[in-house]
Amino acid sequence: MKSQLNKIAKDTNIFLKSFISKQKNTKLIPAMKYGLFPGGKKIRSKILLDIGSLLSLDYKTLIKVGAAVECIHAYSLIHDDLPCMDNDKMRRGKPATHVRFGEATAVLAGNSLLTMAFEILASKTLKLNANIKNNLIQKLSECSGHLGIAGGQYLDLNYENKKVSKNKIIEMEIKKTGKLFSFCCLAPAIIKKKNNKDVKFFENIGSDIGLLFQIADDLIDYKGSSKKAGKKTGKDQKKGKATLISLLGYKNAIVYCDKMILTINEKLKKYGTNSKNINETLKYIVKREK
Ligand code: IPE
Ligand code: IPE
Ligand code: MG
Ligand code: MG
Ligand code: MG
Repeated sequence: MKSQLNKIAKDTNIFLKSFISKQKNTKLIPAMKYGLFPGGKKIRSKILLDIGSLLSLDYKTLIKVGAAVECIHAYSLIHDDLPCMDNDKMRRGKPATHVRFGEATAVLAGNSLLTMAFEILASKTLKLNANIKNNLIQKLSECSGHLGIAGGQYLDLNYENKKVSKNKIIEMEIKKTGKLFSFCCLAPAIIKKKNNKDVKFFENIGSDIGLLFQIADDLIDYKGSSKKAGKKTGKDQKKGKATLISLLGYKNAIVYCDKMILTINEKLKKYGTNSKNINETLKYIVKREK
């Protein structure tokens, strides 16, 4: 699992470096590269490939789609750390982009990575037919905007220091984090030209996985080490973030995760031994320290 994740990270970075190197050089590129490389775990790309393997899709195509997702993810982290948002100074084991380059440059580098994602999906190097690309672009926009990441981030900030119900916390976590995972799970179904019902099935699996991922991230914040995580931990409580841990407690949040894994695996059972990869990734998601 770990070596597969490393291979995916390497191949994604090779693709992204080559994609950027073909563009005209600008003053924003250093800050964009700083936010992108060496980059994080690439867990979203891993999920995309796991689901892609259930549907026997081509590795190289999925790496490119995953690269677009990773651009959006990197942008969301640059913005998440800004003083007007979580106000964090460390990310991926180094100073946050705004600490290194200043706030305005960080905002603009983030914007540029967000739009680059769509450039990748629309580009000729992604060899898919125009209709499929159009569907991918539409879904990725939906998952990133006010119905997805941006909307979820709004709720996350809005809920600080408030008493928020379980359902509202779950809705917020699914938007800010789950939706991008939804895209990773539904993209292979779109590429395979599956019907709407199947696309919806994978979309829902994705939001379950994303929710699981965010709760695990909250658990790392609660108990994990900053050094291992590469970002400051213990900050959610200080900021009064509404999380399932703040509502249910640490132990119950772990029980919640275990139940979620069972539910997701149950849904994927119909793929038999083919779902082994994704099962392994789910285990990794809750066991990880970063
Ligand atoms: C961190 O995401 C932010 C969340 C959405 C919880 P990751 O843990 O995937 O970050 P990197 O890419 O590995 O740094
Ligand atoms: C971030 O959630 C979700 C995003 C969409 C970026 P967090 O604020 O918990 O992520 P970390 O802990 O700073 O990585
Ligand atoms: Mg945040
Ligand atoms: Mg944060
Ligand atoms: Mg966090």
